[in-house]
Amino acid sequence: MSASLEALFEAAKAAQANAYCRYSGFHVGVALEAASGAIYSGCNVEIASYPEGWCAETTAIGKMVSAGERRIVSALVIGDGDGLTTPCGGCRQRLAEFAAADVPVHVAGAEGVRATFTVGTLLPHGFVLKDEEGRP
Ligand code: THU
Repeated sequence: MSASLEALFEAAKAAQANAYCRYSGFHVGVALEAASGAIYSGCNVEIASYPEGWCAETTAIGKMVSAGERRIVSALVIGDGDGLTTPCGGCRQRLAEFAAADVPVHVAGAEGVRATFTVGTLLPHGFVLKDEEGRP
């Protein structure tokens, strides 16, 4: 694992430990590396009115944007169990808002990274508006 991938993994794992998931019991952590090199992490947050909770990706993106950053250069998602915790449909769209199609999205379990996708392969033909620089 490269140094920055290791840092992403550790940040996501630390956030996962704080997941507030009393309804599903499924702990998710996400770490985003932004253009500055800073890492923003987040966990899923569930509430008694189940559909109103939100994903770890959403928490991390909100923290990144609140800190004044707009570009994701890599992402890592860690979830419980043996499967691949890939981002849900809504979070694929949220990631695509701030990440180019070639941005890697690593999917991990407790032991490390299990698979790597890109934003473009997770959300093919996704809806995008031009960005602030006018790029499609
Ligand atoms: N979840 C995430 O936070 N991110 C994902 O990529 C997949 C699913 C959360 C939503 C919910 O709190 C729990 O996992 C189980 O669905």
